[in-house]
Amino acid sequence: MAKGKKVTVIGTGNFGSTVAFILAMNGTCHNIVLRGRNYDVARGKALDMSQAANAARQHTVVKAGKGPESMADSDLVVITAGAPRTPGMSRDDLLFKNAEIVKMYAKEIKEHAPESIVVVVSNPLDVMTYVVLRETGFPRERVLGMAGILDSARMAHFIFEKLEYGAGQIRATVMGGHGDTMVPLPKFTTVAGVPIEDLLDSEEIGDIVQKTRNGGAEIVNLLGDGSAYYAPAKSTLVMVEAILKDTNQIHSCAIMLQNDYGYSDIVSGVPVMIGAGGAEKVIEMALKPLQVKRFKNSVASVQEMVDTLEGQNFFDN
Ligand code: LAC
Repeated sequence: MAKGKKVTVIGTGNFGSTVAFILAMNGTCHNIVLRGRNYDVARGKALDMSQAANAARQHTVVKAGKGPESMADSDLVVITAGAPRTPGMSRDDLLFKNAEIVKMYAKEIKEHAPESIVVVVSNPLDVMTYVVLRETGFPRERVLGMAGILDSARMAHFIFEKLEYGAGQIRATVMGGHGDTMVPLPKFTTVAGVPIEDLLDSEEIGDIVQKTRNGGAEIVNLLGDGSAYYAPAKSTLVMVEAILKDTNQIHSCAIMLQNDYGYSDIVSGVPVMIGAGGAEKVIEMALKPLQVKRFKNSVASVQEMVDTLEGQNFFDN
């Protein structure tokens, strides 16, 4: 267990609160700072979680952070701040609103937690990761977006729904941006080592791919006033734990590509080996032509949003 680690969670909505709660329940770190727009809400949730940690016999202390100084000495900062989707919206519709919020926090992180590793989960995810990279000036190793783990978990769920066996044994792979153009990869997906192409026909697999792409929207439509948070929070925890425990395990994450898969200076989701330094290595898989084409579309959709921000002189850095 990582000793003496401090994690700041920015955003006290359902997503941020659930991230902090799981961290506290697992005793993953010693200190959690919960920051949000409403300090009293952050205080209330921090108290509640600290008491829950005591009930769980964990040592983790959760505190509310009032100003940016509260982030000082954070090993890791998770940015969940921003508006969630509501029914009828795509993640991309949140671009301008959330870009401003995320930029503000990125500047604060640069000043007050300059050594931290940042995990971004605000949407549109890949662009928000790019915004944090630009505004902090941190090396790409220390700025990662969470989404591939979530999208892979959703794909695994839909495979289980179809098969009705293999729960917990399904290893699904999804690359590309966390948007409608994400790239589920059935060819790299197995159940206890068995390729799903040996278990399901192409129509069934096509259906699973489509459900995976629509996985977030399905929940947004059901909830009515926000987006999913249990699977997103648990997926974030997978990354946080890989970093704090220095596991060197491979997870699909959003990262600035630098001569990876043929792209540079744009963020997209690819397999990354994660350890104490953040993203320690990007793993290149040999993709088939159709996968290459889909990945290209996905990268292009992220680039388009970055260009839109550039066109409005959004970046200060
Ligand atoms: C989702 C949001 C968190 O996919 O992007 O549920």
